[in-house]
Amino acid sequence: MANLNLNFIVVFLLFSLFGSSPLGIFKPSSCSEDQSRANIKCIYTERQALLSFKKGVTDDSGRLSSWVGEDCCQWRGVECNNQSGHVTKLDLSCEKKRYRLSCSFGKISSSLIHLKYLNYLDLSWNNIDHVQIPEVFGMLENLMYLSLSYASFPQEILPHLGNLSSLMHLDLHHSYSFGEKAENLDWLPSLSSLKYLDMGQQNLYIAGAIWLQEVIMLPSLQELHLSSCELQIPPPSFPFINFTSLVVLDLSNNAFDSSIFQWLFNLTSLTSLDLSSNNLQGTIPYNFVNLRNLEHLDLSENPNITNLPSVFGNLCKLKTLSLKSTNIGGNIDGFLDNFSTCLNNSLESLDLSLNKLVGNIPDSLGRLESLRYLNLYGNSFWGSMPPSIGNLSSLQQLDLSFNEMNETIPASLGQLSELVILDLNANSWRGVITETQLTNLTRLEDFVLTTYTVHSLVFNVMYNWVPPFRLKSLELENCLIGPKFPVWLQVQNELSYVNLKNVRITDTIPEEWFSKTSQLIDLDLSNNQITGKLLQQLVHPNVKFIDLSHNYFKGPIPVWLAKNSVQLYLKNNSFAGPIPSNIGDLMPSLQILDLLREPPHVVKFHYPYKKWRVS
Ligand SMILES: *[C@@H]1O[C@H](CO)[C@@H](O)[C@H](O)[C@H]1NC(C)=O
Ligand SMILES: *[C@@H]1O[C@H](CO)[C@@H](O)[C@H](O)[C@H]1NC(C)=O
Ligand SMILES: *[C@@H]1O[C@H](CO)[C@@H](O)[C@H](O)[C@H]1NC(C)=O
Ligand SMILES: *[C@@H]1O[C@H](CO)[C@@H](O)[C@H](O)[C@H]1NC(C)=O
Ligand SMILES: *[C@@H]1O[C@H](CO)[C@@H](O)[C@H](O)[C@H]1NC(C)=O
Ligand SMILES: *[C@@H]1O[C@H](CO)[C@@H](O)[C@H](O)[C@H]1NC(C)=O
Ligand SMILES: *[C@@H]1O[C@H](CO)[C@@H](O)[C@H](O)[C@H]1NC(C)=O
Ligand SMILES: *[C@@H]1O[C@H](CO)[C@@H](O)[C@H](O)[C@H]1NC(C)=O
Ligand SMILES: *[C@@H]1O[C@H](CO)[C@@H](O)[C@H](O)[C@H]1NC(C)=O
Ligand SMILES: *[C@@H]1O[C@H](CO)[C@@H](O)[C@H](O)[C@H]1NC(C)=O
Ligand SMILES: *[C@@H]1O[C@H](CO)[C@@H](O)[C@H](O)[C@H]1NC(C)=O
Repeated sequence: MANLNLNFIVVFLLFSLFGSSPLGIFKPSSCSEDQSRANIKCIYTERQALLSFKKGVTDDSGRLSSWVGEDCCQWRGVECNNQSGHVTKLDLSCEKKRYRLSCSFGKISSSLIHLKYLNYLDLSWNNIDHVQIPEVFGMLENLMYLSLSYASFPQEILPHLGNLSSLMHLDLHHSYSFGEKAENLDWLPSLSSLKYLDMGQQNLYIAGAIWLQEVIMLPSLQELHLSSCELQIPPPSFPFINFTSLVVLDLSNNAFDSSIFQWLFNLTSLTSLDLSSNNLQGTIPYNFVNLRNLEHLDLSENPNITNLPSVFGNLCKLKTLSLKSTNIGGNIDGFLDNFSTCLNNSLESLDLSLNKLVGNIPDSLGRLESLRYLNLYGNSFWGSMPPSIGNLSSLQQLDLSFNEMNETIPASLGQLSELVILDLNANSWRGVITETQLTNLTRLEDFVLTTYTVHSLVFNVMYNWVPPFRLKSLELENCLIGPKFPVWLQVQNELSYVNLKNVRITDTIPEEWFSKTSQLIDLDLSNNQITGKLLQQLVHPNVKFIDLSHNYFKGPIPVWLAKNSVQLYLKNNSFAGPIPSNIGDLMPSLQILDLLREPPHVVKFHYPYKKWRVS
């Protein structure tokens, strides 16, 4: 389980690191672009300005090596207007950014002044040690887009930004301005065209409560990102709020410890509000009903929020709602009730995980017909899964793990043909699973259903039934599956994680099953009565954990050819013969080899850290 989740995180990280490939930034011109540009020549003075800029900087990464030849419009990172030939866009963001290193740019010369038509300048991920004439940054009067995110630069340039009256997009996310003066945002209110401002991961705490006073003056602002700024003191009430055009507000990961601010409810254009990872106090006010345009609301990780109001059901455009890791308790009946007030509610993602919610999951859950992700992990829900679950025909991920579900799984589960992840782990399920619950789950990849109640959930599936899915994870500890090792398991050849501990299989497991499942990472077949021999050498290159203990396996002790460090538990079987003398060569990273006889250990599920996989 822990490994499985780690794997999700790694995939997620890789995706976020490489997802926006830096290659896309300097994409070579396509043929058609080349043709349309064929007769555009770059302007002589602008070419000189670029060359002079190139001369000034230390280009240690060779980014500007393509800056040779006549037509500067063909140079990497340079774009010209296709009519006039003027340079309009300069993308000098650091190529190495996927490695989280910045490039050094050394000194920036003042020649940028000559790029009078520049409207886009990206200097992100660069270390700029020195700017020859800081005023230059105030003179690029056509600039509409400026990014200095993840860059470091001298403080002196900041006040000059106030001169950029055309600027619409300013990204200072995780940037670092160095210099002598105290942080001062006086220049910010002059940016009257600004629509997008990201000052995330900046320490604005120094500025105390004045930070928003500056921002509030920006009448055109649509997106404001102030995540991870160590903000603590919420702005009190304002005499007026000028940024009522605000559409996106991100105040996540700060240190607010007040109640939810009343002035938020005047921002009636908001579609996205992120207040996650603060310490907001008390109840969620009914005033949320004013935010009729809200599509994304994240209040997660505020451990002192205490109620789950039904007002969200009145927000008919709401697509994602997260109240993960707050302190909400009680049942969810009232919360679901008002979802019938919208003819067509649009909720696609609901995360109520890691709270203190209790009781039956009501049938009114079936009203959330657009739901794709439902996460109720880590609460204390009990009873049966409601039959109306079958109405959630778009559902892709369902996580009900670590609850106290102590009754049945309905036949209608079998209607969820979009389902990819089904995690019902660590509950106390009872009843019967037949083909009906599984037949239409054509996309299922993770099927996790371990239960505390030993053998109370019975798989009553015909021996020869062939399922439509090929699983990557299969965990059914303590369910009753045997005595046979059925065909629906035999055909699974893409498995990485298998937990079939204590499922009463008394059969042999076909040799081919072991050779087919080449992706195996974790395999637990312990506490069954499985018979037969294993191949003496098994090839599962990525395997890390194998537990075959407490079975009736015979023959010589098997060895896995695996590159990772492996834990191998074989105790209480009928293996015979010596421990292979070359086991150290064949399994150079073997960590644990357990051949002892000992009493079966007590079932105890650990409470894993989970990263929810949302695509
Ligand atoms: C010139 O650029 C504009 C805006 O980028 C674009 O809409 C237009 O199609 C281009 N014209 C040609 C001939 O490429
Ligand atoms: C600001 O712009 C004005 C004219 O638009 C210009 O005269 C002045 O030099 C600029 N100031 C700075 C600091 O760039
Ligand atoms: C903000 O709005 C108030 C009231 O509408 C107005 O008096 C004030 O001039 C505005 N401030 C700015 C900076 O636009
Ligand atoms: C917020 O809206 C209410 C009702 O529309 C209005 O009375 C109040 O003045 C507004 N508050 C601010 C700070 O704009
Ligand atoms: C937040 O809740 C915790 C316990 O849940 C409590 O100890 C703490 O005092 C609360 N903080 C505030 C500021 O109310
Ligand atoms: C549910 O919706 C109705 C109709 O919009 C509203 O009158 C009622 O106050 C809502 N209930 C709650 C608890 O929000
Ligand atoms: C309901 O909403 C979905 C998605 O927002 C949309 O595709 C569908 O057409 C809507 N149905 C009705 C009846 O409005
Ligand atoms: C589920 O769908 C059926 C058929 O569309 C409908 O009759 C039933 O009321 C729905 N149940 C819920 C709880 O929405
Ligand atoms: C399930 O748990 C609830 C709450 O603890 C209890 O009231 C109920 O009787 C249990 N149901 C069964 C079938 O054990
Ligand atoms: C599976 O899907 C088919 C076709 O959509 C449908 O006729 C059948 O009733 C479904 N079976 C189950 C068990 O939901
Ligand atoms: C050994 O394994 C068998 C088969 O699972 C089991 O019945 C028996 O209790 C186990 N013995 C010990 C001592 O664990």
